[in-house]
Amino acid sequence: MNFLEQKICDEGLVLSSSVLKVDSFLNHQIDPEFMKLIGIEIANRYKSDRITKILTIESSGIAPAVFAGLELGVPVVFARKKKSLTLTEGLLTSKVYSFTKQEQNEISIAEKFMHPGEKVLIIDDFLAHGEAALGLADLVIKANAHISGFGIVIEKSFQEGRKKLEEKGYRVESLARVKEMNTNGITFIQSEVM
Ligand code: G4P
Ligand code: NA
Ligand code: NA
Repeated sequence: MNFLEQKICDEGLVLSSSVLKVDSFLNHQIDPEFMKLIGIEIANRYKSDRITKILTIESSGIAPAVFAGLELGVPVVFARKKKSLTLTEGLLTSKVYSFTKQEQNEISIAEKFMHPGEKVLIIDDFLAHGEAALGLADLVIKANAHISGFGIVIEKSFQEGRKKLEEKGYRVESLARVKEMNTNGITFIQSEVM
């Protein structure tokens, strides 16, 4: 097991066969030393790709994205889920369907922070159905920038997110890939040592 899988086993709570609670280090409380290692690991996988920008989505994607940005030496932009008071013009927007909330939301970034030709690494905390990931990809496409790939902290491999992204030809790097989970435990798809 890698250090993230170990952390998930130690601190994660399996709420159901499809929902994993990781509030102690990722979704509510953040363990900075640990998150720094996560950021470094995502950055390492893209260090030869001349990334110029990282794109994530508020709120839980921001922490791993910032540490990866620090490591790669590039700015981090986070898409907003709600319209900002000060950010109203020059927006790129995309519709994202949420399976858990069963509603359509609009995500957005300012055009001025995503330039044509940029090489973009998209980072998020979870990859589940892939709707948020595809919405972020759509923002990059609308900016005429290039999607270098995805960096995911926890992938739920039993849901179809990875498949949807790979079908579009995108590279997906997930630090932990949950194959199956239930109240007895969590199993992972063999991961790279890190
Ligand atoms: P989808 O993109 O896969 O369709 O995701 P969906 O809308 O169903 O997910 C809604 C939220 O739930 C997202 O966070 C997503 O990251 C998160 N999520 C999905 N599966 C799990 C899981 O098993 N465990 C946990 N802890 N989160 C999960 P969000 O609402 O945007 O919240 P946040 O980023 O502000 O924390
Ligand atoms: Na989340
Ligand atoms: Na997220």
